[in-house]
Amino acid sequence: MINIRLQKISDAKRFYEILNNPSFKYFNVQPNSIEEEIEYLKWNEKRIKDNIEYNYTILKDRDVIWAIGVKIKPNSNFIGEIWYFLDEKYWWHGITSQAVKLIEEVCIHKLNLTRLEIYMQLENKASEKVAIKNFYEKEGILKQFIKHKDSSKKDCYLYAKIVW
Ligand SMILES: CC(C)(COP(=O)(O)OP(=O)(O)OC[C@H]1O[C@@H](n2cnc3c(N)ncnc32)[C@H](O)[C@@H]1OP(=O)(O)O)[C@@H](O)C(=O)NCCC(=O)NCCS
Repeated sequence: MINIRLQKISDAKRFYEILNNPSFKYFNVQPNSIEEEIEYLKWNEKRIKDNIEYNYTILKDRDVIWAIGVKIKPNSNFIGEIWYFLDEKYWWHGITSQAVKLIEEVCIHKLNLTRLEIYMQLENKASEKVAIKNFYEKEGILKQFIKHKDSSKKDCYLYAKIVW
């Protein structure tokens, strides 16, 4: 059984474990310690208050397996960027494709966003497939847009969905 809820500081240990996985080749967020992750999570309340970012946790049978969030584009209150990551144990089961629908509910009905974006490095086929399966359209390539783990800058695809 899968449930979604706002992130809690107690999620820090699991996020630290999930993110420090060498298989996360195209995701450049790797906390150096659990304390660093706690520090990040502490700011979530303020991010919501300031309408900057809404971050959620997915639980499977009460275990934290996954995170998804939406960042509101600065100086706009109608564009959101969706991001996600999932514990490798659960890859390839369609969980993220389904979970995007859950965050879209928040984006559309709670935040009144009318344009949703997903960015991914060109090589990140799993993330691209998640976007395509959720009917996002490829709008182009953004050159040197994402900072890679080794600090090099990588091109990425921009996928977007307009909510009418
Ligand atoms: C991206 C990510 C969240 C996808 O999660 P997931 O739950 O495995 O995704 P889904 O199972 O919904 O898979 C989406 C599709 O991509 C396919 N896919 C998964 N991994 C793939 C890969 N490495 N290469 C090609 N296709 C892949 C799946 O088969 C599925 O297609 P299908 O339904 O036609 O079989 C997960 O791989 C992840 O956490 N990666 C690391 C973090 C990351 O890169 N986040 C995205 C940053 S933009």
